[in-house]
Amino acid sequence: MAKKDTFYITTPLYYPSANLTIGHTYTTVAVDALARYKRLQEYDVKFLTGTDEHGQKIEEVAKERGIKPKEYVDGIVSDIKKLWEDLDITYDIFIRTTDDYHKETVKKIFQKLYDAGDIYKGVYEGYYCTPCEAFFTESQLNEGKCPDCGRDVKMEKEETYFFKLSKYQDRILKLLEDNPDFLQPEYRRNEMINNFLKPGLDDLSVTRSSFDWGIKVPFDEEHVIYVWTDALSNYISGLGYLSDDDSDYKKYWPADIHFVGKEIVRFHTIIWPAILMALGEELPKHVFAHGWILFGDDKMSKSKGNVIYPEPIIDLYGVDALKYFLLREFTFGQDGSFTKEKFMNRLNSDLANDLGNLVSRTVAMIDKYNGGIIPEAKEEGEFDEQLKELAISTPNIIDGHMDKLKYSNALEDIWKLISRTNKYIDETTPWILAKDVDKKARLDTVLYNLAESIRIVSVLIRPFMENTSNEIWKQLGIDRSEMTTWESLSDWGGLESGLNVRKSKPMFPRLDVKEEIKRLDEENQKLIDARKGVKKKEKKMEENYISIDDFDKVDLRVAEILKAEKHPNADKLLVFKLKVGEEERQIVSGIADVYAPEELVGKKVVIVANLKPIKLRGVESQGMILSAEKSEAISLLTTLEDIDSGAKVL
Ligand code: MSP
Repeated sequence: MAKKDTFYITTPLYYPSANLTIGHTYTTVAVDALARYKRLQEYDVKFLTGTDEHGQKIEEVAKERGIKPKEYVDGIVSDIKKLWEDLDITYDIFIRTTDDYHKETVKKIFQKLYDAGDIYKGVYEGYYCTPCEAFFTESQLNEGKCPDCGRDVKMEKEETYFFKLSKYQDRILKLLEDNPDFLQPEYRRNEMINNFLKPGLDDLSVTRSSFDWGIKVPFDEEHVIYVWTDALSNYISGLGYLSDDDSDYKKYWPADIHFVGKEIVRFHTIIWPAILMALGEELPKHVFAHGWILFGDDKMSKSKGNVIYPEPIIDLYGVDALKYFLLREFTFGQDGSFTKEKFMNRLNSDLANDLGNLVSRTVAMIDKYNGGIIPEAKEEGEFDEQLKELAISTPNIIDGHMDKLKYSNALEDIWKLISRTNKYIDETTPWILAKDVDKKARLDTVLYNLAESIRIVSVLIRPFMENTSNEIWKQLGIDRSEMTTWESLSDWGGLESGLNVRKSKPMFPRLDVKEEIKRLDEENQKLIDARKGVKKKEKKMEENYISIDDFDKVDLRVAEILKAEKHPNADKLLVFKLKVGEEERQIVSGIADVYAPEELVGKKVVIVANLKPIKLRGVESQGMILSAEKSEAISLLTTLEDIDSGAKVL
């Protein structure tokens, strides 16, 4: 088959502020399946994912933990990468918005927009949603709340640079109206047109001066670039846009599909196209908005504690079971509710009963009736044609579904072939044929047809469940070859006879649903407990004054540094032994970049003494040492006069 076109797909960049839930993995698993599917069809695929690491929220959380934002995100990003590794996600590019090359490109993009006159300075007054890091006008609010996430907003005023979004309003409206395929599903397009474009677009505030953690505006260091301009640019910076080597950009852009959750559609179908228009670049071909996975009736939040993490599922039931469930159970595009019961039932019915049984029955019969060798097909009989027709027509049906990102339908149709093949066993009754030597030719044919149908299934499920596909190949004695290409599915009979089958344990043992729910709950809880120690407390976003009573709750003390040494597991952290009055305690602090441990011994510092102890990279920290920070500069707080350790700071 000739090499096909390029195919560039992306996930959104994840915020590294939370442990990723099954909901988060949903997009990545779906994009991965499509990337694998296109590779199977020999497209030249580029699959990008990564993390969106700048912004006020990250800055605040890092501060709460007494570490630098970069250090905070480094830890989380490595967890995210580990999760993708566990899930065998085949991304080609993992971009971090803190990567130097990305930061350089964003600066160039910003400069280019400024030079073109699309960015100007002004004052912004509006309603700000801190979690979404977005400003809204009053009319855009939804019953006074953020129209994207539904949370509280606050009125803010600041000097800012604006992007002339309004200038692109007509072109974007036309883009959405004239290209029904640009944004799918259809109703999302109507939402954008009616809720945002028709009422009119305001210019967009694209810088912030109230915090530091971001990419600096190249010509005004007081401002950092708005986190969404920064994040959206990843889709092209990741390909080398405006860099010395932009060959990938030339080859793969425009993206074939950006996958996004429903709450970030506006950014991808209004703001992102406008930025690209202003840069004079091509627009992505498609944006697909998927729904949310809900836990009980709870949205993305983990507040009710009913959220399930992917790790215990992977550990207990394997990656393929999770991927299959996510893509089969939910209609991509709509919200769906995750329940453990549904998960277990799918495993039992579709994986254990239908697919698992088909494979083990077939392999066992070939073993028993033909000495473990896949026979040649010799004598056609009743039911053969029906089976073959369905098997040969299934790939095209799947292709039609995948074209529309109907994962669930694609898997459903593969399972129709599995069911049809199971039915073929019941119809042809090989165990009866085996009793009559005259029926050996017919028996051979039936066994061959079963194995051939399973081969076709093994290739069709490959993009969704690679381990299972490999396991089937192992059991049928198939190597990766012409027998396993997408092209091999166009004709019946691709399976070689004479291969040695290998009996194995069942691929998906049947589960006792009640028992397993208990087991999964226990494992999930263990993970939650393990993470509790290092998890941030959700911070209230309102900026309220605090009362003197609130202040009194913070026990600030002078402490003397007795010992300081490097943290065993983190370059940027120092571990201090401190004397606080009569007491000794240990505090971990992220100041290794600016202070050498030995120069601090004997110094008096100010600490928060009643902060709940936490473990930082495995070392307990019983409080926080205070420091003053601005940009990269840091200074530990100390006292003007020499005062005993333990003294209260008021
Ligand atoms: N950082 C932005 C995206 C920037 S893209 C240039 C962001 N990050 S996120 O971590 O909050 O969300 C990433 C994706 O995960 C979003 O598409 C979001 O919809 C998806 N999901 C997070 N929780 C989810 C569910 N419970 N269910 C399905 N997807 C969900 O937004």
